[in-house]
Amino acid sequence: MKIVVVGKGGVGKTTVVACLARLIGRDGYSVIAVDADPSLNLAKALGIDSNSVYSKPVLFDEEFIKERTLLPDGAYRLNPRVEDVVEKYGIKGPDNVTLLKLGYVKKGGTRCLCPEYAFLRALLSHLILGRRDVVIVDMVAGLEPMSRGAARGVDLMLCITEPTTKSIDVTQEIFRLSKDIGVKNFAVIGNKVMSDEDRVFIERSLSGIEILGHLPYDENVVKSDRLGIAVLDHNPNSPIVAELNMIKKFILNFKKAEDNTYKFSTSYK
Ligand SMILES: Nc1ncnc2c1ncn2[C@@H]1O[C@H](COP(=O)(O)OP(=O)(O)O)[C@@H](O)[C@H]1O
Ligand SMILES: [Mg+2]
Repeated sequence: MKIVVVGKGGVGKTTVVACLARLIGRDGYSVIAVDADPSLNLAKALGIDSNSVYSKPVLFDEEFIKERTLLPDGAYRLNPRVEDVVEKYGIKGPDNVTLLKLGYVKKGGTRCLCPEYAFLRALLSHLILGRRDVVIVDMVAGLEPMSRGAARGVDLMLCITEPTTKSIDVTQEIFRLSKDIGVKNFAVIGNKVMSDEDRVFIERSLSGIEILGHLPYDENVVKSDRLGIAVLDHNPNSPIVAELNMIKKFILNFKKAEDNTYKFSTSYK
């Protein structure tokens, strides 16, 4: 199963990806967590110590990405080779999770991120997964890196949404774009929800869009962030972990239909 997590900056994508990846891994799945955000902070949130992150070259370092994507005339390959990437660059984390970091070519301000995105699209489209493999991508805000081809390979797009107008606006825009590129299953997870009023605000503003659940505003997330550790390691009994456990069950309950796509098989609520 391939899951892409999107949403406005700061809504909690990295927090959710890290926690969900480990909870799914604990159920016996092999999870690949892809950090596709240029700020690259998924490792800490997963609880991977910085020594193991730097014991390997950063995924898709400049030379690697150039070698695989850039053509002599300055254009880039749409279909770079990816099949050896997990083995070569995967960083083993706790709970059956392997981290892939989408490194960025360091030369700032000189060009677009086309080669990196070509890589990400190739990963999503061409990674062949077994029945008990899960890929979960911590995406940049917006859907520029996506395309029809990559969207076809995605089983579920999860949009994290705060109870703020700005976040809701971004979610509506991403939802619209997701339909344009052919994403089959789109769902929202509310985050930093402090009251019934917050929950109702999200539900009313996004009526017609599947909402898997609402994560509470949780001081444990703030504290673990300051300590630079995973919320699961800081306090496994955190309210956010309890709610994500429920959402995890729902996601894993996706039934594989005959046409080889996942469909919502139950309703969470
Ligand atoms: N449920 C929550 N309760 C409290 N703080 C949260 C919660 N979720 C995320 N945060 C905090 O919000 C900030 C942004 O979260 P992060 O996961 O990095 O967002 P994103 O990856 O979308 O930019 C971080 O400081 C994080 O600790
Ligand atoms: Mg992030």
